[in-house]
Amino acid sequence: MNPQTELLERAKSVLQKNLRNGFTIPRDKLYPFQWNWDSGFVSIGFANYDIDAAINEINSLLSGQWENGMIPHIIFHSETENTYFPNWDFWDTTVNAGASQKPKTSGISQPPVLGFVLENLLQKHPDNPKVIDFVKYAFPKIVQYHNFWYQYRDAKKEGLVFIYHPWESGRDNSPIWDDALNLIDLKNADLPKYTRQDTKISDAKERPTTRQYDEYVYLLELGKRHQYDGKGIAEESEFLIQDSLINAVLIRSNEALINIGNRFGFDTKKVEEWQQQSIRMFNEKLWNEDLATYTGYDLRQEKAFPYWEIGGLTALFANIPNAHQAKKMKAYLNNLIQNNFLIVPSFDVNHPLYDSKRYWRGPIWPQMNWMIYHGLKQYQFENEATAVKDNFLELVQKFGFHEYFEAQRHLVETTNGGYGGDNFSWTASSVIDLILNP
Ligand code: GLC
Repeated sequence: MNPQTELLERAKSVLQKNLRNGFTIPRDKLYPFQWNWDSGFVSIGFANYDIDAAINEINSLLSGQWENGMIPHIIFHSETENTYFPNWDFWDTTVNAGASQKPKTSGISQPPVLGFVLENLLQKHPDNPKVIDFVKYAFPKIVQYHNFWYQYRDAKKEGLVFIYHPWESGRDNSPIWDDALNLIDLKNADLPKYTRQDTKISDAKERPTTRQYDEYVYLLELGKRHQYDGKGIAEESEFLIQDSLINAVLIRSNEALINIGNRFGFDTKKVEEWQQQSIRMFNEKLWNEDLATYTGYDLRQEKAFPYWEIGGLTALFANIPNAHQAKKMKAYLNNLIQNNFLIVPSFDVNHPLYDSKRYWRGPIWPQMNWMIYHGLKQYQFENEATAVKDNFLELVQKFGFHEYFEAQRHLVETTNGGYGGDNFSWTASSVIDLILNP
């Protein structure tokens, strides 16, 4: 068997292993439930060879949608698993009258990938009646989900939505959150007692620190106090960020909804209004010429982040940068390649806060490479797109289907550069989709 065919077969068996009753877990033990954006990427992978599984995956996510439109970041389909903290009891979403109680869920969301996932399924199966029916069914639910973001997470009606928890960003312990998290007064926070499970399963050196976990629990409690959608969140939270990735993904998914709407003659006026304002503000407020990227904006401290970080690159995927901006973003990647890095590390490799092993503070992440690959292709940056894809496939070939990977070439060649959990679902689905859609 040629190596790519073999990799493809192994990827499929990872998904098969993680498949439960109508949904896929990111990885057993470490993440034993359904995660929002993980499932989006898994659905895209499945759509290449098992459209029923692709549809079920999204359907299972939608089963946890709240009345306010939110699609939560975790859906706890099973209430017997006990290897994860925080579980449904700790979230206690009964504080919000419109929260889903069956299935139980968390109380925050994640990058809104579902719009572009739906479009991806349709592009792969443009004439399949099952897919068409599903797209028609899911479309209004995803519009309602975007409405949640614009209604509850855009206090000043700027067109840029905020997050109040690092878990919402999908990049839990990125250094970009440090400043905001430092505002939290943990000494007087009176946190409930809790026990972490992740460090029993994964190497603690590759996971967030104890202090960071306390901060995560603090913000969870803050959200709970405000029924997870109350106005008080924007008034009270120390952590209040207009994140580059969340907004870029929202814009990419708005675009997808507009395209789907045009095909089926759905009303997309509201989405088009959101979209115009969001793109304009994203460019006005988040672009940083010196760093050659887009950065997040801290609403509490009223300042833009001073760091280069992976989230900014997803603007390419959302078609936001003009030619000049895109070129600068590409030059940054070329620089990394010349300096013997595999691309794309999740944080500025020259910054003192760069940590090549620890989660979102340096390693390469599969689903990020998937989005950046498509972003670079859109701008016809073929060489860089190929590098993003080939580097990722090389890492999986060498180390297996890990959660994240080493970016420094000399360490990749001399040590074990596969980090976090193994047999990871979005690693598998990204492999499948990148191999089958060159
Ligand atoms: C971690 C990641 C997040 C992901 C989750 C499940 O929390 O930071 O992005 O969704 O794991 O894989």
